[in-house]
Amino acid sequence: MSDNLFRFHDLFAQLGLPNTPEAIASFLEKHRPLPNDILLADAPFWNKSQAEFIREKRLLDSPEWIQIIDQLSEALRQTTGVLNLSGPCRVLALSGSLRQRSFNTALAHAAQALAPQGMSIDVATLHGIPLYDGDIESKDGIPDAVLSLKEKILSADALLLVTPEYNNGVPGVFKNGIDWLSRTDMKTIFSGRITGLIGASMGGFGTISSQTAWLPTLKMLGVSLYSGSSLLVSRAQNSFDAEGKLQDETIQKMLSSYLQGFQTFVHASQMAKAQERKN
Ligand SMILES: Cc1cc2nc3c(=O)[nH]c(=O)nc-3n(C[C@H](O)[C@H](O)[C@H](O)COP(=O)(O)O)c2cc1C
Repeated sequence: MSDNLFRFHDLFAQLGLPNTPEAIASFLEKHRPLPNDILLADAPFWNKSQAEFIREKRLLDSPEWIQIIDQLSEALRQTTGVLNLSGPCRVLALSGSLRQRSFNTALAHAAQALAPQGMSIDVATLHGIPLYDGDIESKDGIPDAVLSLKEKILSADALLLVTPEYNNGVPGVFKNGIDWLSRTDMKTIFSGRITGLIGASMGGFGTISSQTAWLPTLKMLGVSLYSGSSLLVSRAQNSFDAEGKLQDETIQKMLSSYLQGFQTFVHASQMAKAQERKN
């Protein structure tokens, strides 16, 4: 990752702005797009000293700050994404349904198709993972299907959980898969893992109960959960066609918007992690 990313994080601190990943992401979401005919230092959202700092460093062509100030300016003029210099954002979308014509697997594929520029999404399912049994674990170790899913998660920048809802709660199949994964090396696989949560159900509330029911587990696992926006697909049978293609334009827009926010969150989190490693 470019050293400039560290300094982008530093710039927010220098301006007296919160510089957590969430704060940087929400600042960009709130203030962009900044029109091209307004200089960054003249943007209405700065206080006097912030504007002066930017104007002064820009005028002096300060080698320490100029590049990162220009990158902030560029990021604020874009409608999506954080920075052009951000590396690719690889997401693993994990569907919590085994059903061949699952709406949630279809939603994961819709996310893949609608991924914003710079984001790529692979889709995974829980096929082949047995019911958790401590005796199997003691005798045979972790099943291959779990280990293979673990590798996919570790090689992605972020995890997107796509959850169905069963009886107002988390489907057992999905919880079982996550429980197995937690037996491999919970800290490496989940701690700080940048994670999104979306879902589709046939009922009228679109997985609100199952998404809520996931929270204690995700907290226990220590994931870094994106909560900047949410996506709840209700009455999924009306939103997908017979081939499982997302046909509802409103949901398409909501999904695109969710993914853009998630991408911003991923990049901001990566920046913060890089900064931590640097310190
Ligand atoms: C055991 C079971 C319980 C369900 N409970 C709910 C529920 O609480 N709320 C809801 O909206 N849909 C519920 N449904 C319907 C699911 O939303 C529907 O089966 C959906 O297609 C499951 O996701 P999938 O298409 O990804 O498999 C339930 C389905 C099953 C099989």
